[in-house]
Amino acid sequence: TPVLRVGLLGAGTVGSQVARVLLTQADELAQRTGVRLELSGIAVRDVTAPRDVELPRELLTTDADAVIDAADVVVELTGGIEPTRTRVLRALNAGTSVITGNKALLAESGRELHDAAAASGAQLSYEAAVAGAIPIVRPMRDSLAGDSVNRFLGIMNGTTNFILDQMDSTGAAFDDALAQAQELGYAEADPTADVEGHDAAAKTAVLASLAFHSSYTIADVHCEGITGVTAEDVAAAKEAGYVIKLLSVGERCGDGVNLRVQPVMIPREHVLGGVRGAYNAVFVEAENAGSLMFYGQGAGGDPTASAVLGDLVSAARAIALGARGIPLEPYAALPAVSMDDV
Ligand code: NDP
Ligand code: HSE
Repeated sequence: TPVLRVGLLGAGTVGSQVARVLLTQADELAQRTGVRLELSGIAVRDVTAPRDVELPRELLTTDADAVIDAADVVVELTGGIEPTRTRVLRALNAGTSVITGNKALLAESGRELHDAAAASGAQLSYEAAVAGAIPIVRPMRDSLAGDSVNRFLGIMNGTTNFILDQMDSTGAAFDDALAQAQELGYAEADPTADVEGHDAAAKTAVLASLAFHSSYTIADVHCEGITGVTAEDVAAAKEAGYVIKLLSVGERCGDGVNLRVQPVMIPREHVLGGVRGAYNAVFVEAENAGSLMFYGQGAGGDPTASAVLGDLVSAARAIALGARGIPLEPYAALPAVSMDDV
């Protein structure tokens, strides 16, 4: 069986679960892909730090470049912009396919990364970057590629949905609910990104780029988080038969698209009003397909690892077959429209 060396960057909440599956289910994955996925190195900040999963000490290193250079495919689960961007480009420029869950990086440098992948023939995959375990990136990129998406909207941040749900259902204080979300592995390393709406805005930019065949960054997304939502707001909404949710929207608007993230009041009986805990849901409206709905766990180590491993199996199959990656269309067809013009 041919061997595919997998270089893992990061072994935190998500990376450690990806490593667990690679280490314990190697035979099963080999049967599925026709290649043996061998974990060849794991780059972390501190090789002595305690981990959720026991990892072979000889695989752990702080030398990320060495892990990248020795790999046939790189899985990036460190987060942040730099030095991650430089490392991802190092892999892509060398023709090494990259799988990432890093929506912050994609929403800032997606264009540059796609261009690098297209130039070298490497694949860039990121199913885990939007809505955790929910398959939405590939359906948007591939399954709906022959249709015309008019709008998507949904709950795309697990941490804020968990916090709002706790405040609504148990009367929990904002800070206590956030601490619980961090404990459960839902929050970003800096949870400001979640509660200020930046994480949902990054996902909105990434999904919109695929939905509207354009290239958007986080700067194109109007963003309001949930830090201004008080216990009194939640209680008043409940009294009136509503529930507060952080909603992400991308929709065609005149000759462009409007992208936004905002807390909104949703009727309790509405299907989005019933999305609890760290679950996410995304509605898509397309010209010919009509309405589609995607629902599932939007955050957490195991669910997110599932999406990463799906990308890894696809990359392994593609590499085994010698297939090239699919580049993002190299133009911005629909400009982002400001809130003033909506
Ligand atoms: P964690 O903070 O739990 O883990 C980050 C890992 O990266 C740690 O192992 C850390 O090393 C390592 N790391 C950080 N910086 C560096 C660096 N400069 N060099 C080498 N290693 C580094 O993050 P998560 O696992 O939660 O998230 C990882 C990525 O996945 C992020 O992009 C996040 O947005 C995304 N994501 C997360 C989801 C979730 O539910 N948690 C869901 C979807 C996507 P050490 O352990 O030594 O500190
Ligand atoms: N912090 C993110 C969230 C992780 O809560 O949704 C999943 O992308």
